[in-house]
Amino acid sequence: MGIFAEVKPSETPASELDGRRGLIVSGGPSSVYEPGSPTMDPAVLESGIPVMGICYGQQLIAHLMGGFVRKGSKGEYGHADAEILESGILFAGLDSREPVWMSHRDQVERPPSGFHVLARTATCPVAAIGDFARRLYGVQFHPEVVHTRRGGRVLENFLFTICGCVKDWDPKGRIPLLEAEIRRVAGGRSVFFFVSGGVDSSVAYRLCLDALGPGRVHGAYVDTGLMREGETEFVRDALGVEVVDARAGFLSALAGAVEPERKRKIIGEQFVAVQNQVLQSGRYLEGDWILGQGTIYPDTIESGGTAKADVIKTHHNRVEGIQRLIEENRIIEPLTSFYKDEVREIGRELGLPAELLDRHPFPGPGLAIRLLCSEKAEPLERLPEGWLVPVHSVGVQGDSRSYRPVLALENSVSTAEATEIINRNQRVNRVVGLVASHAPLSGTQVTAGALDAIRLARLRRADAVVRRISHESGFDARVWQFPVVVIPCGTAIRPDSVVLRPVHSVDGMTAESVVMERPLLDRMARELLGVDGICAVFYDLTHKPPATIEWE
Ligand code: XMP
Repeated sequence: MGIFAEVKPSETPASELDGRRGLIVSGGPSSVYEPGSPTMDPAVLESGIPVMGICYGQQLIAHLMGGFVRKGSKGEYGHADAEILESGILFAGLDSREPVWMSHRDQVERPPSGFHVLARTATCPVAAIGDFARRLYGVQFHPEVVHTRRGGRVLENFLFTICGCVKDWDPKGRIPLLEAEIRRVAGGRSVFFFVSGGVDSSVAYRLCLDALGPGRVHGAYVDTGLMREGETEFVRDALGVEVVDARAGFLSALAGAVEPERKRKIIGEQFVAVQNQVLQSGRYLEGDWILGQGTIYPDTIESGGTAKADVIKTHHNRVEGIQRLIEENRIIEPLTSFYKDEVREIGRELGLPAELLDRHPFPGPGLAIRLLCSEKAEPLERLPEGWLVPVHSVGVQGDSRSYRPVLALENSVSTAEATEIINRNQRVNRVVGLVASHAPLSGTQVTAGALDAIRLARLRRADAVVRRISHESGFDARVWQFPVVVIPCGTAIRPDSVVLRPVHSVDGMTAESVVMERPLLDRMARELLGVDGICAVFYDLTHKPPATIEWE
């Protein structure tokens, strides 16, 4: 919003926040009643600085100031209609009813004394609170996401009217300064980059290229063979980087891997090996080369929360060669003062294609964790609700990992009913509904399916079909992410099935399964059933928790 903003640990003492114009206490997946959940220095709330809590932030303020937070088990995810009870300054300019986005389990039941209730929804009677004299506010909904129609206005009201901030921070305007800084840090040296095709590394690479010229910047992109259709060519053409073909190595390393954590470990190790090979072969580890990285501001923040989190899924690995360059201080990271949206803005200004800047998140291990495998054939099991498919997927329940089979329903149910089924039946952590099929589920089984070239090509094709239709229909702009998963379930001639997994989310920590309109769903299913080897198309009806966004 054109204001310089820092992120601090929530526990930062009030004495270190002197002089700030305003504070926002963010949301998060915790409950104020869990031991070790994030808290804040209560003196901050007495300091006279305006504060706005969002989601968990509102609950925390209410809890610390003597209000009552009710522990919820089910929660509320998605769109809600907020009735504005008192507009005050925070809600100036809003209608009496506003669509808002909710993602929470606990909620404030009674605000602390001195606070007014500013809004409510059907299931959340205290959806916003405010103590006008002390300039302390809280909202249970998320003003920062696009689904809250007037969320931007709420943030403006807080920042400009309540806090008195002025718009004086312009990332685009800083490009000449960033380029000058890159020239200063590089000195006479050249810069080497691994680009992933993601936003951050692409923008950082392009900034260095513009600052130093093509002769002094080298970018390499590792083609793992696990990318989406057309991805490698797109990145190569958009950025002009070297493509390192590592497909065969990844495929042979992954042969026989079924368990998700094993796949992730193999992919991580293979990445390390290939990156070290590239660094050594090009002599990029020697004297006049330094390493460029797309580290952005949020990556530099040490958050108490992540340090405590249980490992649900293993993410990144550190390359030894890269570690050495970092230790020797031979590193350049031009984007460390910027947030993701600012990085996108800089990228647009530099002329990078919108297709590259506005993409959905895509996991590092790529299609490997969307291609489920099975060592052996196994029958489905008939249950009262539907069919138990013995293909395991990862879930997150009570903040720890689960790895359980899937329940497939012949008649699709609502996401609420799917949640109830999982609560009742602890054998499964995910429920899918059948959309269309070449064979009845009674005639299908889990098939032996490995991570091989044929099945990867099948997933890549299915993913491309979904991406094209989703883009043409405008559906992709309405979801946060849309994984397409292939599971080894079908018949002898059509051994696999596709699962569609469109989700809404704020930050990937929690997510809501998104219901698609029937005609669009039918159109996708029709084309997908035409993909060679595909038997059925399912729709994932499970929220996160209890499932995760990706299946592995
Ligand atoms: P889950 O499946 O844990 O995913 O609900 C949450 C978000 O994280 C992404 N994801 C990854 N991103 N490397 C990444 O860079 C990974 O290994 C990885 N695994 C999951 C996922 O796509 C979703 O956006």
